[in-house]
Amino acid sequence: MSGKKKEKGVVLSQKMIAPDIYDMWISTSLAMEALPGQFVGVYPHNESKLLPRPISICEVDDKKNALRLVYRIAGEGTKEFASWQPGQEVFLLGVLGNGFPVKEAEGKKVVLMGGGIGIPPMLQLAKALSKAETNVTIVSGYRDAQLFLKEDLERYGKLYIATEDGSVGTKGNVLTVMEKEQIKADVIMACGPMPMLRAIKNYAEEHEIIAYISLEERMACGVGACLGCVCKTTHKDTHSHVNNARICTDGPVFDAREVEI
Ligand SMILES: Cc1cc2nc3c(=O)[nH]c(=O)nc-3n(C[C@H](O)[C@H](O)[C@H](O)COP(=O)(O)OP(=O)(O)OC[C@H]3O[C@@H](n4cnc5c(N)ncnc54)[C@H](O)[C@@H]3O)c2cc1C
Ligand code: FES
Repeated sequence: MSGKKKEKGVVLSQKMIAPDIYDMWISTSLAMEALPGQFVGVYPHNESKLLPRPISICEVDDKKNALRLVYRIAGEGTKEFASWQPGQEVFLLGVLGNGFPVKEAEGKKVVLMGGGIGIPPMLQLAKALSKAETNVTIVSGYRDAQLFLKEDLERYGKLYIATEDGSVGTKGNVLTVMEKEQIKADVIMACGPMPMLRAIKNYAEEHEIIAYISLEERMACGVGACLGCVCKTTHKDTHSHVNNARICTDGPVFDAREVEI
């Protein structure tokens, strides 16, 4: 069970790894409890923006007690994060949400699918699965040749690349790669934009594969209090008796069969 503490951290390094995409390591005690697929809330210092911005755990360094966050500048909050320099004190809420069910995948043929800014959480997941000696294939979907995290991902599994413009790898998306390369999976674990996740849910149902998808929806409180992140589920919640789940606390990772997206 994850805690929900506001913790102080210190920026260790920060660099741009693709246009508008930043790679930041933060030293924080939250690193000790972070699981693949979980996220932290990063507080902007600008006080007009009080809510923490949810960012997935990209990698954990156990020795340095540090978390790696890879994020795209989307608005004011993330623009401010990109200006932070090493030594900057920061506040994080976390760790939040449920991660991917690594134990369930052990010993199976697992395909990780990341699309765009959904690629970062696949890194810590691939690392955890490869430690568990699971057969890991990774399929990453990018817009164009501005790739990021490629060498990092290659360390933990066989990596296939799709680009929308066909400049690198297969022209198309992660599912185009699955068909073209005839990749077989027992379990799919995925994060990316909603149309991609919807297509993966359908693909998994057609092929009778179990798929876990991370819904990186818009969030507010991040701790289950505001209902700003609900999604429709196929089962009734035992507590509220409605077909809803809060992505921030019940997710962001769901069995694709259990959510209507
Ligand atoms: C569980 C979770 C994990 C996430 N992990 C990452 C990550 O690892 N890396 C990363 O770059 N981003 C991630 N995001 C998205 C990130 O939280 C938003 O991009 C960020 O909150 C935007 O804040 P901002 O202040 O910069 O922009 P805002 O000013 O708040 O918004 C700017 C623009 O971004 C859009 N936006 C805001 N929130 C989201 C969202 N959740 N999804 C899509 N569009 C949004 C708004 O509609 C607006 O157009 C994650 C989101 C969730 C819910
Ligand atoms: S963001 Fe408030 S309940 Fe999920």
